[in-house]
Amino acid sequence: MHHIKNNMAKYAKRMDNMYGSATRAMLKITRDPEIISFAGGLPAPELFPIQEYKETAANVIEQNGKAALQYGPTEGYLPLREKLADRMKKYQINTQAENILITSGSQQGLDFTAKLMIDPGDIIICEKPTYLGAMTAFNAYEPEYIEVDTDDNGMKMAELEKVLKENSRVKFIYVIPDFQNPSGRTWSLENRCRLVELANEYDVIILEDCPYSELRFEGENLPAVKYFDKEGKVILLGTFSKIFSPGLRLGWMVAEKEIIDKINLIKQGADLQSSTISQMEMDYYLEHYDIEKHIAIVNSKYKARRDLMIQCMEKEFPKEVSYTYPKGGLFIWVTLPAEIDAADVSDKALEKKVAFILGEAFYPNEGAKNNFRMNFSNMNEERIVEGIHRLGIVLHEMIDK
Ligand SMILES: Cc1ncc(COP(=O)(O)O)c(C=O)c1O
Repeated sequence: MHHIKNNMAKYAKRMDNMYGSATRAMLKITRDPEIISFAGGLPAPELFPIQEYKETAANVIEQNGKAALQYGPTEGYLPLREKLADRMKKYQINTQAENILITSGSQQGLDFTAKLMIDPGDIIICEKPTYLGAMTAFNAYEPEYIEVDTDDNGMKMAELEKVLKENSRVKFIYVIPDFQNPSGRTWSLENRCRLVELANEYDVIILEDCPYSELRFEGENLPAVKYFDKEGKVILLGTFSKIFSPGLRLGWMVAEKEIIDKINLIKQGADLQSSTISQMEMDYYLEHYDIEKHIAIVNSKYKARRDLMIQCMEKEFPKEVSYTYPKGGLFIWVTLPAEIDAADVSDKALEKKVAFILGEAFYPNEGAKNNFRMNFSNMNEERIVEGIHRLGIVLHEMIDK
């Protein structure tokens, strides 16, 4: 990652930490319709419930247009917050509307949590690797990052404990326990429980980011980390982006009332409130349609695409290349032999019009160069088969020498 030198104005020091994310740059390249892109984390657009949304939008405007186009409360539209409190049972969380604040996507929840907690030089602990968009949000508050190694059960708890013991400036631990971005991995029940014990012992906040939690294709639903939270240490972020539509920009935060009250002040300063009309539409949709049925349709499509991508990888990739097997979500994390640089693979793949995101983008400090992230939700079946075939050719060329 390189910093761009600017001489136009006396920018704030925080801007030294701000650089465009690799994903955004890649998304620009992949606007070329010829490119087979496994780069972004975009939902399958053909699954958006366009007809139902059309009816929803028309009905909200007809029945409640004056309120829908008006300002609303900072914490969000109460009927929607009540429905969300109820829906949190799906995450095995018992909560009330007063513990829920509506955000403009969970991305805003990342920003607000860092704004709430971080003075320059404070420490954020995160998974290694972690979601790069979180770093984009956190960097404005000038934190230091300590990454904790992960395996198929989530963060390595012994290592986390060591970091907490040795560092007094830790403010929060950022985790994505379900079908993580970028690795596709899911935390074990034991690690979820242990994480909360450690947060209580060392008096730090946990920021639990759950954009993929409802996108499970197989296996039992696990309770959220927040389920184990008896001392109010966990802030949970939810979002409609992956279960309904990212274009509406609607997410939510679940936390202790004291924290929600402070976030409310931050939200007032940031944007007063999230869009009234989006919130009323979402509320109407939840009231009149079956979102669980919609999510089931999404999951069955994504499961089929994951299965196909894994099948193609097994057939086309050299045996030296390994990858995770996600039980949900949108991503597969690929590991190349240590001596192969994923950036070289990416250059060659782009010549063949195939794109993915380099693994190194997901490490806030220096990270490994032999990983990349593959998205399986956004490309249709034909493009998955062709894209993996082309990638396989590139990988064989580089590895079988
Ligand atoms: C882990 C994670 N958190 C947060 C977000 C932000 O999502 P949104 O702001 O659309 O809810 C994403 C988007 O891809 C993500 O992968």
